[in-house]
Amino acid sequence: MAIQPIRLFGDPVLTTQTALVVDFDKELRTLVQDLTETMLEAPGAGLAAPQIGVPMRVFVWDVDDELGHLINPTLDLSDEDQEGDEGCLSFPGLAFNTKRALSVVAKGFNMFGDPVVITGTELLARAIQHETDHLDGILFIDRLDAALRKEAMKEIRSAEWFGQLIAEGVDLKIRLSPHSTLGLGL
Ligand code: NI
Repeated sequence: MAIQPIRLFGDPVLTTQTALVVDFDKELRTLVQDLTETMLEAPGAGLAAPQIGVPMRVFVWDVDDELGHLINPTLDLSDEDQEGDEGCLSFPGLAFNTKRALSVVAKGFNMFGDPVVITGTELLARAIQHETDHLDGILFIDRLDAALRKEAMKEIRSAEWFGQLIAEGVDLKIRLSPHSTLGLGL
C-alpha cells in the first residue's frame, strides 16, 4: 500500500472522462488500497481515482466510520434534495454550499468483480454523487449556481496552494469543466 499525492484543481486529469474497469485484478485491488490509504491520511470522506492521477471508474469513501469502495458506478437519485457545505481534497481548505440529491442507490462492482448495490442518504449520498462526478470529469464547483461559482473561483485564485502551483510553474488549465452532466439528473 502506498499513499499517493493528491492532484489539485488545475490538473487536467481532474477534468478528464475516465475508463470503465474491465480487469478485476490485483492491480485494481492495489488501486483501491492506495485510494483508501490516501483518503484516510488526508483525511477526507471520499476520494476518486483521477484525484491520484488514475483515470478509471473507481472511488472510495469513509462515511460514519464505514469504509467503502465502488467500481463502474451507475446512480439512481432521489427527487428530494439536500443542501450543505461540500469540499474536495483537490481544493484544500475550501467548501461551498452544494445542492445534491438527498439519497442515492448506486449500482456497481466491488474490487473482486461482484455486483453490489449501495444505498445512501445525506453524507454518504453526497459523497457518492461527488465521487461519481469526478469519474466524469465534473468538479463540485460545476454544481454551484453562477453567483456562488464566481465567488468560489475568486477564493480558489487567492488560495495559498493555488498560488504555489502558479509559482512552481505547473502547467495549469484553469477552466470550468466543459463536460455535460451525463444524465445524472443534476
Ligand atoms: Ni472531490
